[in-house]
Amino acid sequence: MGELFPVQIDSLQQFGDVLEPSEAEEPILSRPLRAALLEWLTEIWAKDELEAVKLQPRKRALFSGVPGTGKTTLAHHLAGRLGLPMLLIRPERLQSKYMSDSAGLIGKLFDVLKRRSEPVFLFFDEFDSFAAKRMNSGHNQTVEQDHNLTINTLLAHLDRYNGFMVAATNFADRIDEAVWRRFEIQISIELPGEAERRHILARYFAPFVMPESALTALAVSMEGATPALMRQFAEHIKRQIVVGPKAGWEMNRAAVISRVLSSVQPHPDAGKPRLWSLGAKDLATVKFPWPLHKSLKDYPAEPAPVVHGEAVVPFKRPGGEA
Ligand SMILES: Nc1ncnc2c1ncn2[C@@H]1O[C@H](COP(=O)(O)OP(=O)(O)O)[C@@H](O)[C@H]1O
Ligand SMILES: [Mg+2]
Repeated sequence: MGELFPVQIDSLQQFGDVLEPSEAEEPILSRPLRAALLEWLTEIWAKDELEAVKLQPRKRALFSGVPGTGKTTLAHHLAGRLGLPMLLIRPERLQSKYMSDSAGLIGKLFDVLKRRSEPVFLFFDEFDSFAAKRMNSGHNQTVEQDHNLTINTLLAHLDRYNGFMVAATNFADRIDEAVWRRFEIQISIELPGEAERRHILARYFAPFVMPESALTALAVSMEGATPALMRQFAEHIKRQIVVGPKAGWEMNRAAVISRVLSSVQPHPDAGKPRLWSLGAKDLATVKFPWPLHKSLKDYPAEPAPVVHGEAVVPFKRPGGEA
C-alpha cells in the first residue's frame, strides 16, 4: 500500500533541518562572547589530553537571547568549526498533536541518532516551548502528566547521549531545572555593541561601502538593534537600489530610507532603535551617503577630524623654511 507521503523512519529531517558545516557563516561577536566560545572550542580540541586526566570536554550549551541575536547562526558556526552537520530541531516536530506521543517522538529522535554512524551537532530551537518546567497544579491533569512524562523522557535520553548539543531560548527561566542542569555551559547572547554594529552593517552593505563617519552615525543610531534587524535594513536598502529604479519609485535618500524603515521593523517586544523613532530627522539619515558607492574613493574626501586638546603644531620659523 503506497502512502501519499511516506515517512522516512530513519531520517533526521523528520525532526527539523540538517545544515551542512560548509554553509555556516562567521558571526561578528563581541570580545567576551568570542572568548567564551574559543574557550569551549579549545576544550573540545583538547579532548585527548582531557581524557588523560579523566575528564571530558563539556558538550552542552544553553544559549539565551532575544530573537535575532544570532543564536542559530552561532550554533551553526560552532558545528561548522567542529566539521559536523547540525540538526536544527523544530519544537513542533517533537510535539505530537496527541500530547502523550511527544515522549515517543523524543525516543525516536534519540534512536535515529544512535543508529547513525556519523555524529551530528544537535540544536534545539525555542527550547523553552518544549522543555518547560514540570507542573503539578492539578488543573489539567492529563496535560500535566503528558508534559511531565515528556520531560522525564528527555532527561533519561540526555543522560545517555554523548554528542554535542546547543539549546536556544529567549526564556531561560521557563526551562525545567533538571533539564537546565544537564547543560554545562550557559551563554547569554547580548545585543551587539557599537563596534560590532559597525562591522555587522559593513558586512551586509557590502559590496557598498560608506565613509567612517556615516557608518559610525548609523551604528550609533541603531543602538538596541539585533544583528537580524541590521541585516534586514542593509539588505533592504540594497534591494531598493536595484529594484526601485525599475519600479519607478522615488529614489532620493529620504524616500528610500523612509520606505526601508517602514517595511523593516524591530520586533514589537524589542526596544526601538533611535533611527526608527527619528527617521528622516536622524543624524544617521542626514549623514547617510547617497548614492552608495562600492569604493571609498568615489566619495568626497572626509574633512580631517577636529583634534581636541593638545595638538602638535609643526614648528615653522618666521622665515618660512622648516
Ligand atoms: N553575530 C552576527 N554577525 C553577523 N550576522 C548575524 C549575527 N547574528 C545574527 N546574524 C544574522 O541575523 C539573522 C538572524 O540570526 P539568527 O541566528 O537566526 O538569530 P536567532 O537564532 O537568535 O533568532 C541571520 O540572518 C544572521 O545572518
Ligand atoms: Mg534562531
